[in-house]
Amino acid sequence: MTQKSAEAGPAKAAKAATTAKAEAPASVAGYRQPTGEETLSIVNLNDLEAEAAKVLPKGGFAFISSGADNQVTLRDNLAAFERIQLRPHYLVGKPAPETKVTLFGQELTLPVITAPMGAHGLAHASAELGTARGTAVAGTLMTVSTAANKTLEDVASASTGPKWFQLYLQEDQGKSRELIQRAEKAGYSAIVFTIDAFAPGSSDEANRLGFSFPPSLPFANTGTATFKPSLTWEDVDFIKETTDLPLILKGVLSPDVAEKAIKRGVNGIQVSNHGGRQLDGVQAAIDALPAVAGAVKGRVPVIMDGGVRRGTDVFKAIALGANAVALGRPVLYGLALGGAKGVESVYGQLQAELVRTMTIAGTANIAEISRKYVL
Ligand code: FNR
Repeated sequence: MTQKSAEAGPAKAAKAATTAKAEAPASVAGYRQPTGEETLSIVNLNDLEAEAAKVLPKGGFAFISSGADNQVTLRDNLAAFERIQLRPHYLVGKPAPETKVTLFGQELTLPVITAPMGAHGLAHASAELGTARGTAVAGTLMTVSTAANKTLEDVASASTGPKWFQLYLQEDQGKSRELIQRAEKAGYSAIVFTIDAFAPGSSDEANRLGFSFPPSLPFANTGTATFKPSLTWEDVDFIKETTDLPLILKGVLSPDVAEKAIKRGVNGIQVSNHGGRQLDGVQAAIDALPAVAGAVKGRVPVIMDGGVRRGTDVFKAIALGANAVALGRPVLYGLALGGAKGVESVYGQLQAELVRTMTIAGTANIAEISRKYVL
C-alpha cells in the first residue's frame, strides 16, 4: 500500500500527471490513451479530477466526469456527504484502527471496492486490466462492467483479486445467460444487476464535444453497448434461476425496492444513482442509504456508491448502514494518471484517510462504526 508524506503537494501530483502525458500516449486510431505507470503522490481524491483532465482527450474526460442533464444529482452526491456531521467519541482508549472487512466471505483490506464502470480504455491503455491489478494490490475487490473494453475472461486473469461481474441485461435472454455463464466459468464470485440504466450515460458536455465511443475501443464482451430496454422483477427471477452466485441489485434508492428484492431472493443491495449519470434529480445516494439500510435490517450486505471521495465519506456511509462503499470516478482518474499503480495509490490515500478518521472518531474496527458516530 502506497502511503505518501504530507509534503507531497499538488505540485508533485501535477508532476506525476505531466510525466504520464510525456510518456507518449498510445494513439488508438485517433484516441490518445495515457500509458504512464507510476505511483502517485495524492493529497486528496478531489484533486485527481483536474489532473486527469490534463492527460485525457477532452471527449473521454467529459464522458467519465460528467453527470446527466443539469448534473444536480452529480453535485448533490458530493454535497450530501458534507451535510452529514460526525460525532466522535473521545477518551475511549482505542488501539490502532483495523480497516479489514469480510464481504460475501471475501476478506478485503478496506470496506471500499471498485464500482463497475464501462470503457476503462478511455482512461488508460491497460484499460480494465490495469484497474484489476491496482485494485487487487490494494487488497480489495473489482466489479467488472458488461461494457468493459477487455473481455471478462481477460480481466479475470489480469489479477488474482476477487471480482464481481456487473450485468447489463441483454434484450436476447440467451445472450444474458451466456454472459452469466462466462462470468461463472471465469471465477467471478457475484453478479451485480444494474437496474437504473438503459443506455450509457449521456452528458451535455460529451454531446457538445461530439463524443462517441472510439470504434478502436470496442465493448469486448458484447461487441456494442447493448441494454434491455425495459426491466421487470421477472428479470431478477431469471438471473436467480440462471446462477447460484450471489445476486446484488445495483441502483436501489428506496426501501420498498430493497424489501421486494430480498423477498425475491436477492443477496445484496447496492444503493446508487449511477454517479448522477442516469436520472438527474434523484436523491443523493448517501441520503437514500439510511432508509434502505433500515428496511434491509442486516439481512443482506448493503453497498453504497456515489460521491465517495474521503475517508470521512467512507466512515459516514458505514455509520449510516453500509457494509462497504464502491468507488467510481477516482479509480478511473488514478488509472489515467498512473495505470495500475495509480489505482493502488488512490486506495492507499483513502485507506490512510479512513484510518485517520477512525483514530480520531474513536473506533477500533469497521464493525464498531455505527449510527452513534453521526449526528
Ligand atoms: C459508471 N457506472 C456504471 N455502473 C454500472 O452499473 N455499469 C457500468 O457500466 C457503469 N459505467 C460507468 C462508467 C463511468 C465512466 C462512470 C463514471 C460510472 C456507475 C458506477 O458504477 C457508480 O455508480 C458511480 O460511478 C459512483 O459514483 P462516483 O464514485 O463516480 O461518484
